Amino acid sequence: MNKTILLLGSGELGKELVIEAKRLGLKVIAIDKYENAPAMQVADHCFVIDMSNKEILSKTIKDFNPDFVVPEIEALSIESLKELEKEGIKIVPNARTVEITMNRDKIRDLASNELKIKTAKFNYVFDSEDLEKKSHEIGFPLLLKPLMSSSGKGQSLVESKDNLIEAWDQALENSRGKIVGVILEEFIEFDYEFTLLTVRKENGENIFCDPIGHEQYKGDYQCSWQPMELNQFLLDEAKKITTQILNNLNGSGIYGVEFFVKENEIIFSELSPRPHDTGMVTLVSQNLNEFELHLRAFLNLPIPQISILKPSASRVLLANDKFHHPSFDGLNEALEIENTKVLIFGKPTSKKGRRMGVVLSSNDDINVARSNADNAASMIKIVPNLKH
Ligand SMILES: Nc1ncnc2c1ncn2[C@@H]1O[C@H](COP(=O)(O)OP(=O)(O)OP(=O)(O)O)[C@@H](O)[C@H]1O
Ligand SMILES: [Mg+2]
Repeated sequence: MNKTILLLGSGELGKELVIEAKRLGLKVIAIDKYENAPAMQVADHCFVIDMSNKEILSKTIKDFNPDFVVPEIEALSIESLKELEKEGIKIVPNARTVEITMNRDKIRDLASNELKIKTAKFNYVFDSEDLEKKSHEIGFPLLLKPLMSSSGKGQSLVESKDNLIEAWDQALENSRGKIVGVILEEFIEFDYEFTLLTVRKENGENIFCDPIGHEQYKGDYQCSWQPMELNQFLLDEAKKITTQILNNLNGSGIYGVEFFVKENEIIFSELSPRPHDTGMVTLVSQNLNEFELHLRAFLNLPIPQISILKPSASRVLLANDKFHHPSFDGLNEALEIENTKVLIFGKPTSKKGRRMGVVLSSNDDINVARSNADNAASMIKIVPNLKH
């Protein structure tokens, strides 16, 4: 296809999107705030800019005049995207959806207040003086999160009012963008959680992938598997909620819709209007992975039946320390495990807790797939590169 994509954010999800875009013959320009980011390594061109700066982002987009602007991250100048959309530039899935999902308050306002969908109880706080009063309305323990952040950054479980200020300071330190504000959320002791990847086509049809189970630690994804068993009632509820939200957002592309399940009830958490980290498992589990689905949806290409090829699981590879161009020990052992792949993202530096790669494993028995992915991941050690 003779089209150009400008990718805003060049992490591991962007990298897989670029690989699929290149398979379709598209031209891709990858942008991030640092050099040699994962998606830049496979794109046609790359640039380092501050995407939260309106003038810089607008100038970059206008200079390249791409067919599609595809955000991969949340911290973008939304004013720039809104203005350019009015001028006829295609933002994926659309600027309003990017705006609603970039901060936690807008998506909560839409889901809970406007669409009356069940979520955890929540309150916003914009001034530390209101923390105590608003916390009591929620009750302890509660989760305090920056209004804009991802991968659990700046998120704390607060047990009592004595820990509120510390959590507030930490949230603001880790907040992306310039907003001084947090959300307090009722801490749900859910039984389990899952992602419902859903593709919305240009004609407004929503197609659901099988649910993806996942586990998180301190707000960051550790492992996922697909298909996850879910009873028909809960699945139907999740589809109904997803349809309500996507019919409102109304932009074509893939969405990662996150839910908690507690005592046979579905609770909506949040959603990404783009491929989801827990959905990397679809690279091996599905006939069409989440990156292909995103592309096909916004390029308005056909999407026939989405099916599971083999039950599969993922386990992330996290660094323990700061290294430049780290090495990965143990690949020889890990890759001995059948139907197992290791994706190394190629991030130029590691730091404690940073996601550097992922293991994907498939097996007819989902439990074997999960334990194979876990075993392979435990064999891999991220170590300093002696050449650097
Ligand atoms: N209200 C809640 N009660 C219990 N656990 C929660 C709640 N909110 C979030 N969590 C836990 O923290 C995880 C991350 O939360 P959330 O998705 O809001 O953060 P995030 O920073 O946006 O993460 P990401 O961008 O990676 O999806 C959830 O998947 C869940 O495990
Ligand atoms: Mg999340």
